[in-house]
Amino acid sequence: MADVTLTTLRGLKQNGEKIVMLTCYDATFAAAACAAGVEVLLIGDSLGNVLQGHDSTLPVSVADMAYHTACVKRGNQGALILTDLPFMSYATLEQALDSSAALMRTGAHMVKLEGGAWLGETVRRLAENGIPACVHLGLTPQSVNVFGGYKVQGRDEARAREMREAALALEQAGAAMLLLECVPSALAAEISRSVRIPVIGIGAGVDTDGQVLVLHDMLGLNPRPAKFVRNFMTGQASIQDALSAYTQAVKNAQFPAPEHGFSA
Ligand code: KIV
Repeated sequence: MADVTLTTLRGLKQNGEKIVMLTCYDATFAAAACAAGVEVLLIGDSLGNVLQGHDSTLPVSVADMAYHTACVKRGNQGALILTDLPFMSYATLEQALDSSAALMRTGAHMVKLEGGAWLGETVRRLAENGIPACVHLGLTPQSVNVFGGYKVQGRDEARAREMREAALALEQAGAAMLLLECVPSALAAEISRSVRIPVIGIGAGVDTDGQVLVLHDMLGLNPRPAKFVRNFMTGQASIQDALSAYTQAVKNAQFPAPEHGFSA
């Protein structure tokens, strides 16, 4: 696979080809995911749950993210590496620049922040300093204590409008990509159409520009999977085959199916 860049991702959106993203935390899985055609490896702060055993992503540090980004970089074979800025590592502009610089130095090509329109100034400053940013909207797990649980976001009109406006404002501020988690499928489709930058979904229906899942979920290792997860190990002889099945299902828009999405 030729090296995937932001230009590649924009081209995929323009051509209507789905973008395949998967979380990844180490070199072995990075190589396997690349061999399966995964285009974006997300070093998600979900590593707090699936690797560290915490019940949320809040305990994860920049050092943890840097360590796993470096591991993934060693196994990467051409995918774009996207790394999460963990909880409270971008609360001020200075923190955002310092944390992002640390992650870019270890191998990230882009960083991901959770929030809304208020991140506009941060996104602008990151872009000015050579750091592309993906903004995670909808169910942002670092705010689980504000939401009072892991709940679908944007079902009421006020929150839906807030999300639509945030997407436009963040694109204007220079965001390179958006990620929508657990939002009604119709709203996610509308937001994806309204911006030129790629929009990746998880629990956001099939009409976003690409999909992401947590590696351990799609390998069937989560005993209580969310509604939007499919176990890609089912019917497959190996992990490598499951990764390829995921890539094919995303590319062919066979995943997610309607039952994986949420209504308004
Ligand atoms: O941390 C993560 O794995 C994520 C995905 C849920 C998108 O942000």
